[in-house]
Amino acid sequence: MPDLGNIPPTIWWEDGTVRMIDQSRLPLVGDLLVCNTYDGVCSAIAGMAVRGAPALGVAAALAVALWSETEGAEIGDLDAYLTALDRIADEIAGTRPTAVNLKWGAERMKRFARDNADVGPDALRPLVLEEALAIRAEDEARNRELGAHGAALIEPGSRILTHCNAGSLATAYFGTALGVIFTAHAEGKVAQVWVDETRPVLQGARLTAWELRMAAVPFKLICDNMAASIMRRGLVDAVIVGADRIAANGDVANKIGTYGLAVLCKEHGIPFYVAAPSSTVDLTLASGDEIVIEERDPREVTGLTVSGVIEPHSGVETKALDALTEAGPYALGMTKGHQMELTRKGGAYQFDAWVRIAPPSVEVYNPAFDVTPAEYVAAIITERGVARAPYTESLAEACCGTGAIHELE
Ligand code: MRU
Repeated sequence: MPDLGNIPPTIWWEDGTVRMIDQSRLPLVGDLLVCNTYDGVCSAIAGMAVRGAPALGVAAALAVALWSETEGAEIGDLDAYLTALDRIADEIAGTRPTAVNLKWGAERMKRFARDNADVGPDALRPLVLEEALAIRAEDEARNRELGAHGAALIEPGSRILTHCNAGSLATAYFGTALGVIFTAHAEGKVAQVWVDETRPVLQGARLTAWELRMAAVPFKLICDNMAASIMRRGLVDAVIVGADRIAANGDVANKIGTYGLAVLCKEHGIPFYVAAPSSTVDLTLASGDEIVIEERDPREVTGLTVSGVIEPHSGVETKALDALTEAGPYALGMTKGHQMELTRKGGAYQFDAWVRIAPPSVEVYNPAFDVTPAEYVAAIITERGVARAPYTESLAEACCGTGAIHELE
């Protein structure tokens, strides 16, 4: 059994609230974010406090349940409740465009509410919450199954490269691409993981490195532009990534930079695997050309966002920090558009900074995802087994079929 060490759960329901580890500040600050309203969850999604396709599906379901338990609880009329739930679910689904799981989670909640509406609004609300909790539990279970299927593809002694974070933090728990790696590592097959830092938001350096360290999996962190060279030197045996949306033909949208890795794999004869639950497969899209690619804030590219904890060296520093943060967060005066905010949290002090690295006013293009054509993908690993080309058939079976799509040896 893979041991994930102290990796915390990503997102959960507690005391009538949705709680999550704020991933926008990990790993140097591990804040707990408590959302009391559904739009608090929407802001957390937009600000990437919760991110990663399967985790977004869970966040969407929990956000709908949170609305149902708060604002929705004021609506006595069934039709009005259902109409409002549809609207809220659509709003939640619209917070980020590429990861289909967000829409999938919201749509499943809409469908569930309509299918069970005959019990009336008062009895429906607890059922809606139960459904959201079921989606969360199912996600972890699927990832563990997917991990076992994927680990069967890994040769003993493998050096595996991964991009972005498709780990436990990108799911309710356990992870997809990292779920495969955790499982293969527990089976003694992983010699080392290469972790792409994953500019611009650095999910690899910040989150994947943090998870692998917690789970005691050996790894080395590299800059994205180092992958080609280490492949050429024969230091990579397989690449495994997650996915944000997979079209019916097997084209895969994932974090920007994934396509380049897939092309490199083809050139160097390295298998390129995608690990994703069936909820990431979008059979309504014939090909990846139809996938909407999110474009994000140019400041992700022109600068670096860093948070950390300040440990004062002396009483003088403590006094100064106390004075600055007495009335709340304090924005330091900075040149060149750099930003630095100081916050007092209990007895500790935190900084949140954005540091400019490009000259002011440069034009930026910042697509968050790219699409890898199916021809580059050696296999798509789902909880139902390992899908191979032709994906139009194997993915349809993975999502709509009844049996395992691939019998494990
Ligand atoms: O922008 P993010 O951090 O949400 O992007 C995440 C990814 O691209 C992941 O690789 C993908 O969602 C799969 S997570 C299991």
